Amino acid sequence: MKTSVYPGSFDPVTNGHIDVIERALKIFDNVIVTVGDNPEKKPLFTIQERIDMLKESTKHLKNIEIDSFSGLLLNYVKSKNSKIIIRGLRAVSDFEFEFQRALLNRVVDKEVETIFIMTKEDYVYLNSSIIKEMTKFKGKVNGLVPKIVEEKLREKFNKT
Ligand code: PNS
Repeated sequence: MKTSVYPGSFDPVTNGHIDVIERALKIFDNVIVTVGDNPEKKPLFTIQERIDMLKESTKHLKNIEIDSFSGLLLNYVKSKNSKIIIRGLRAVSDFEFEFQRALLNRVVDKEVETIFIMTKEDYVYLNSSIIKEMTKFKGKVNGLVPKIVEEKLREKFNKT
């Protein structure tokens, strides 16, 4: 059974992330999508909110688990009896950052492989930050994020 782990901030999940999850499910028996608790970052959504949005946005998919983790990713991957980390790759700009992390993780644990999945061309420009900025200034993000995320973003920014 090939279990893969797809970690990220998912603040919030975008259609680009969903596309990566769907592609990963074609390759691996199951995918654990896990929300990283990074104390360095100031997220818009709480871990629980991000988990809830991920659950709602992936309810059409089978063989998927939504979870969260804190601390070292490699420890989490091991605790799930997996050896595969999935990361989405959009453009050249992602490469250096991802390359460094994948190599470092491999040096620390040579059993664990990072597999990069190229996002659908429609979403190469997309990331969570740009979606937040767009919504903050009342821009339309329909078609770029799941419906539930659109609603939650609107709720968040209408409060502030
Ligand atoms: O979506 P993001 O913000 O690019 O996700 C980053 C994430 C959560 C995958 C990354 O910050 C992470 O792996 N955090 C865990 C801490 C860790 O293992 N650091 C060492 C990486 S070489």
